[in-house]
Amino acid sequence: MRGGAASAGRGTHRNAEAAGRMIDECRRQLATLLGAQIPAQIVFTLNCTDSLNAVLQGFLKHGDAVAATALDHNSVLRPLEALRQRMGIQVEIIPFDPVTGLIDEQRFAKVLAEKKIRLVVLNHASNVTGRVQSVAELTRVAHAHGAYVLLDAAQTAGHWPLNMMELDVDFLAAAGHKGLLGPLGTGILCIRRGLETQLQPLRFGGTGTSSESLTQPNDMPARFESGSLNLPGIAGLHAASKWILGQGVEKLRSHVHSITVQLLNELNRIDNVILLRPCLEFDNCGIVSFNIYGMDCREVAMILDQSFDIQSRPGLHCAPLLHQTLDTMSSHGTIRLSLGVFTTDDKIAHVVQAVREIAAHA
Ligand SMILES: Cc1ncc(COP(=O)(O)O)c(C=O)c1O
Repeated sequence: MRGGAASAGRGTHRNAEAAGRMIDECRRQLATLLGAQIPAQIVFTLNCTDSLNAVLQGFLKHGDAVAATALDHNSVLRPLEALRQRMGIQVEIIPFDPVTGLIDEQRFAKVLAEKKIRLVVLNHASNVTGRVQSVAELTRVAHAHGAYVLLDAAQTAGHWPLNMMELDVDFLAAAGHKGLLGPLGTGILCIRRGLETQLQPLRFGGTGTSSESLTQPNDMPARFESGSLNLPGIAGLHAASKWILGQGVEKLRSHVHSITVQLLNELNRIDNVILLRPCLEFDNCGIVSFNIYGMDCREVAMILDQSFDIQSRPGLHCAPLLHQTLDTMSSHGTIRLSLGVFTTDDKIAHVVQAVREIAAHA
């Protein structure tokens, strides 16, 4: 903040130029990390919700049909419901298997074959079960039927291998503050090259370019970046993405995966602990959701916080259709522990001991 948080592209003084260079470098790092075709296809947003809305509201037109899944977060489901009410968008919700946590591929193919779906929203990994989906195959089916694909990568970007070009998705939405280790209030939208003109911006305004024109520029990323950017946030994302590239995503994935398996195995042995079944599947990006028999999940989370200094999240985690499918609505959802690249073995041992003590008194 002291050393040059200037408005990039709004002047030619040294700080503005340095800010511009930092933003460009951050875009390049994120393009490498996420497999975007070129850095200009990376758009900075407010959060993952903002990125998802940019596509859902900017791409869908009156009468379009869209397919989403029961794994989706309210940041997908609520904009779709608003579009259904406001513009008559037809919304098809595809179920998932409650045991594996995977999208039902047969139902997916059937919906794509029978309805004229314009856009499919895929959840790369569930924020409740951590289960990572086989996106490439689902995308192939969607494209074969002429549908575009928006991938919600909120839970995977940064600590799970993710390459937009390899997965062949058209739009990718990510949060800056989760696996990408940036500050809260940062988000990313990657758009397949050439598709930007099919996406209407939701915000119009100054971009520091083509100022003589009253029309929003079409060039990327200016088309979607009106107004001053969150420079302090992007500086954090810049430092974080540089660190991640230095470590390598595979090394981070391997750490997160091994401590997640360790925690799941330990919790699975404790009497009265009910783990969500899909968490136990191999491709878990670092999420452990459970209940303790006979206890309200909010009470468990309160004890974890107050007696053991462990921060967890109880409830529905903004994923109501997922909890309906897994039959966890009546317990008010689950307790969720999120593991990350800095979670150590000591922390896992501490959580296991805490859950063991709480479960013993349940
Ligand atoms: C799967 C998923 N999608 C979208 C979001 C929304 O992200 P943000 O809080 O950055 O808007 C979240 C947040 O938890 C999420 O887990």
